[in-house]
Amino acid sequence: MRHLAILGSTGSIGTSTLEVVRAHPERLSIVALAAGRNRDLLQSQCEAFHPRCVSVGSKEAADWLRSNLSYRPELHWGDEGLLACALHPEVNTVVAAIVGSAGLASTEAALRAGRRVCVANKESLVVGGVLMHEAALAGGGELLPVDSEHAALHQLLDGRDSTTIREVRITASGGPFRDWPLARIQTATIAEALNHPTWKMGPKITIDSATLMNKGLEVIEASVLFGLTADQVAVTVHPQSQVHAMVGFHDGSYQLQVCANDMKLPIQYCLLYPDKQPGPVAPYPWDEARAWTFEAPDLERFPCLGLAFRALREGGTAPALLNAANEVAVAAFLQGRLGFWDIQACNQEILDRIPATPLGSLAQVLDADRAARRHAEGWVQTRT
Ligand SMILES: NC(=O)c1ccc[n+]([C@@H]2O[C@H](COP(=O)([O-])OP(=O)(O)OC[C@H]3O[C@@H](n4cnc5c(N)ncnc54)[C@H](OP(=O)(O)O)[C@@H]3O)[C@@H](O)[C@H]2O)c1
Repeated sequence: MRHLAILGSTGSIGTSTLEVVRAHPERLSIVALAAGRNRDLLQSQCEAFHPRCVSVGSKEAADWLRSNLSYRPELHWGDEGLLACALHPEVNTVVAAIVGSAGLASTEAALRAGRRVCVANKESLVVGGVLMHEAALAGGGELLPVDSEHAALHQLLDGRDSTTIREVRITASGGPFRDWPLARIQTATIAEALNHPTWKMGPKITIDSATLMNKGLEVIEASVLFGLTADQVAVTVHPQSQVHAMVGFHDGSYQLQVCANDMKLPIQYCLLYPDKQPGPVAPYPWDEARAWTFEAPDLERFPCLGLAFRALREGGTAPALLNAANEVAVAAFLQGRLGFWDIQACNQEILDRIPATPLGSLAQVLDADRAARRHAEGWVQTRT
């Protein structure tokens, strides 16, 4: 039986995870739920699943829940609350579905405490890199990727050593601006960037999909998860989002992973691994006529993807610097303080300006994250 803590239960991945839990009551139970600001949705999730441990973003929201819940769970708030949920003694599986590097400490602590951690929060892998593996090794934790491309690679690689394969390819839908000319992309609006053609997701990852930064973060994530060099990870644009990843072997052949573009599938894969059970998603409809297309990404129109490869090659704290700059730039874009094209300019500025240092400890990563945020905020101010 998997006893779950869902960190980020009110988000897109969190709510999909609860649907998977509903489909498997004999295998999955909820012990802890944690969210940020959406206290109303968290309240209704608590009434439906009765978690024994609950955390929310602020003390005020925790007090509000205490007065408005029909039962009395342990109530926590803030970063300490995330840790209380992840480390609750009855929890053996943590779904890390918070957005941004705010999820780093709880992911690391859960791995160090020997939990299975189903990581949707790609930023913690990008920022923390090998430190996440070290935490898992030290504490006996198990790291499983929820991102659809990485869950696909996990299935395709099936424990193979990275030297036995030539490359992996993750697919990208190409986002809403896949076939837009550069000049039009440069002046894209918030509404246009939030209009993703194939995936319904939270706002930050949706903007990252429009810049292809999301794919860049996933390139770094693939390298971290599977011990691959930058030359072993490639991206193919596949607008239909049905093939999620491919593994290329030394003889020139490839294996592909195919499934519907529904995050409940990779979530269920991680939660029930290694079992495959019928779940909330129908089997792939092969008899419906459809065409798949594949093309190379255009780094001139989508420079964030190139910046991610650069950060991966530079190594050390470079991915953390890029991720922090991007979080600041995307938030500023969503607030109307930056234009769409400024996001890549901010990311490039931070990589150019702050030298990367070797990755030593979590504290050092958090220092790099803070320094990059400070500089990026300063850069945003000069543009507004
Ligand atoms: N959505 C997808 O299809 C998808 C696919 C692959 C990977 N991912 C990754 O999964 C992660 C989550 O994405 P999402 O689309 O689910 O995001 P989302 O819809 O924006 O949800 C984010 C969740 O995190 C919570 N949260 C944010 N900051 C928090 C904090 N400081 N403390 C506690 N809770 C906090 C939010 O709570 P409130 O809403 O209550 O404030 C919400 O529950 C991201 O790293 C993303 O890249 C998502």
